[in-house]
Amino acid sequence: MVAFIGVYTFGFVAATVCVILLTYITYELLKTYLYPFIGNALQLKSNAGDFFCQVVGYTKEFWNSPLFKLWIGPVPFLILYHAETIETVLSNPVHMDKAYAYKFLHPWLGTGLLTSTGDKWRRRRKMLTPTFHFSILTEFLEVMNEQAEVLIEKFEKQAGKGPLNCFNHITLCALDIICETAMGKKIYAQSNHDSEYVHSVYRMSDIITRRQRMPWYWPDFVYNYFGEGREHNRSLKILHSFTESVINERAEYITYVESDSESDQGMRKRRAFLDMLLKATDEDGKKLTHKDIQEEVDTFMFEGHDTTAAAMNWAIHLLGSHPEVQKKAQQELFEVFSESERPINTEDLKKLRYLECVIKESLRLFPSVPFFARTICENTQINVYKVPKGANVIITYALHRDPRFFPDPEEFRPERCLPENCVGRHPYAFIPFSRFAIMEEKVILASILRCFNIVACQKRENLWPLGELVLRPERGIWITLERRNYTITHTHNDFQKCSYSVTENTTK
Ligand code: HEM
Ligand SMILES: *[C@@H]1O[C@H](CO)[C@@H](O)[C@H](O)[C@H]1NC(C)=O
Ligand SMILES: *[C@@H]1O[C@H](CO)[C@@H](O)[C@H](O)[C@H]1NC(C)=O
Repeated sequence: MVAFIGVYTFGFVAATVCVILLTYITYELLKTYLYPFIGNALQLKSNAGDFFCQVVGYTKEFWNSPLFKLWIGPVPFLILYHAETIETVLSNPVHMDKAYAYKFLHPWLGTGLLTSTGDKWRRRRKMLTPTFHFSILTEFLEVMNEQAEVLIEKFEKQAGKGPLNCFNHITLCALDIICETAMGKKIYAQSNHDSEYVHSVYRMSDIITRRQRMPWYWPDFVYNYFGEGREHNRSLKILHSFTESVINERAEYITYVESDSESDQGMRKRRAFLDMLLKATDEDGKKLTHKDIQEEVDTFMFEGHDTTAAAMNWAIHLLGSHPEVQKKAQQELFEVFSESERPINTEDLKKLRYLECVIKESLRLFPSVPFFARTICENTQINVYKVPKGANVIITYALHRDPRFFPDPEEFRPERCLPENCVGRHPYAFIPFSRFAIMEEKVILASILRCFNIVACQKRENLWPLGELVLRPERGIWITLERRNYTITHTHNDFQKCSYSVTENTTK
């Protein structure tokens, strides 16, 4: 190769070599000299998979101590992984500041429920809690059933055709569900892959997690000039203009409907979380501004789809690698639905107890949110350690693998989650998650299991969990789907996806 380089290119090559050498020397110097100031982050891997393994490794190493300290850039974090120490922090509402760790979410989410603190959080929370009333959940259920149908239709085309990476299919389904329940807006993510908004939701999550892992990009100045500042701003603009227009549209629609009572029957749309926000008032009867509403809607879009999508994917893998668990779940479904293909109603949801255990046990092994942070707001004692006000703590994933509460913690055993088996367990041994997510998971997983048998194509050790904001399998979830063998009585117009003739089946 070198032989082909002409004399006139030599100068260029030499210059390049010099630059590379200089960069290398500077890097080495910085590494040794700046190290004490930059902290463990230089040791921390910037690749998300390695970073996650590293933190998991540390928690194993320090398992017998109540906590350990990790420097991420200039900020020391206390890492917690025992139910007792986590209780000290989470049971005291004083320590609810989320300050530093969530800073990079602010441009996107403003200070909605997830990112706000103190009084603002308490006021918002009080206003928003009633919006999760049962009656709206039943309307959400309709959306979930419809989107599950679209998913099954897609899977139907793939069944019997060998390995399938279901990760994106599930994620798009979750995205359709959150868009319609949160904003009342159909975006058809499952059938139209090219939505600019959908693309930006992904880009933004990526961009933020990368910045979190690279302290040298924390100062805005550095980030804007050397980092991904421009890319960040471009995605941000797409995200915000989309939600802004949806909010304006919906607000106009509501005023229109309210001013014209006749249109009530014909035009009434299903209620969305956004409608509740537009109507909500605080103690003084004040409404939220559109900007306030946008913060909450963006938060829901962020928190509400990736988390459930990842959780469903992990559950699918676990069901696919534990045929005995899958059979039991299908048996329960048969008891509730028999061979009917009707949509799932709220009564059914209550009866699916074993499926709920499957969902919870999956979340124990693969919690969608593997870390979250708090700032200690007054001097506190955690175990034997005095922790000063202002310290940051990270509550980690390792909590769910405590052998004192979950013997053979790596084993997937849904029975652990039966109410009778939880008696006496430490109340902070398992961090619960939203009712909305349980409901969504039940509908989607039940719909899949009613139509198909799942066979996992991956072993647990080949899943490469990537722990960023959300715990995801780096290389997707590979499964094969087999159509289940029963004849169907059609109760629902266009719900014929599971039906097939024997001949169709034999063509593979
Ligand atoms: C498997 C699914 C889910 C898991 C594991 C999960 C986990 C969590 C965790 C650990 C937090 C605490 C974060 C912190 O305080 O720093 C949180 C907060 C939050 N989540 Fe989720 N979540 C899930 C699904 C959802 C869904 C579906 C929604 C919305 C529809 C949602 C909305 C929120 C909101 C608004 C907050 C902030 C709550 C507050 O501080 O008042 N989450 N979630
Ligand atoms: C991104 O937007 C922020 C806030 O508007 C601005 O301060 C910053 O300079 C922008 N960054 C780039 C690289 O354009
Ligand atoms: C499917 O059903 C048909 C007819 O009932 C039966 O002959 C066949 O053995 C079944 N196949 C499987 C794989 O269970």
